[in-house]
Amino acid sequence: MLVTLEGIDGSGKSTLHAALRELLADLDPVFTREPGATWVGDAVRRAIAEQIDPVTEATLFVADHAAHLATVVRPALAEGKLVISDRYSDSRYAYQSVTLQGIIPEPEQWLRAMHNGWSIIPDRTFLCVLPIDEALTRLKPAGAREHFEKREVLEKVQNNYLAYARNEPSRFVVVDAMLEKEAIAEFVAGAIRQDLKSGKKKRKK
Ligand code: TYD
Repeated sequence: MLVTLEGIDGSGKSTLHAALRELLADLDPVFTREPGATWVGDAVRRAIAEQIDPVTEATLFVADHAAHLATVVRPALAEGKLVISDRYSDSRYAYQSVTLQGIIPEPEQWLRAMHNGWSIIPDRTFLCVLPIDEALTRLKPAGAREHFEKREVLEKVQNNYLAYARNEPSRFVVVDAMLEKEAIAEFVAGAIRQDLKSGKKKRKK
């Protein structure tokens, strides 16, 4: 089963990811992330830091996804493992739709088309949602932020995510990121166990 954690910067999904390591240790999940742990992931981080051309950046994110699928996600799912990824394809749809606005005619369609047919759709996606002001106060001081971490960008990104959650209610679970982090982690861990038990989320090969 493939579970993904999504949300804007400052939404606490990396904290949630870390908490799930402990709460779900008995299930021996594969914990992973995008941008990934390969040199392609390093190239993405460099691209973010250097603020290169948005199309270059977007395609690097997709390349990182391909490497992530090939080296981590597909092998783990083939072994029947539970995979929990901190960010995944919805990050691309939500963020790069914003960065590619005015550069590519229909950014979201273009991004989705780049994934169609070879990528793997998550079985379950937890979307951490919170007021933008709260997210901004949780982030580093303004000067030290990545170029995505601006109010105008994060507002649009979160609205994109919420639209995806509305369009795919059977995959998305919206999580109130203002709750206590322990409560969030327990809720999500419980929901993952429920999905595993119900078996309805078993991946057909
Ligand atoms: P993030 O998960 O915040 O990594 P870190 O904790 O190392 O900073 O991801 C880095 C940034 O990249 C974040 O602002 C979201 C953005 N991002 C995209 O724009 N598109 C993507 O496809 C992914 C995976 C991340």
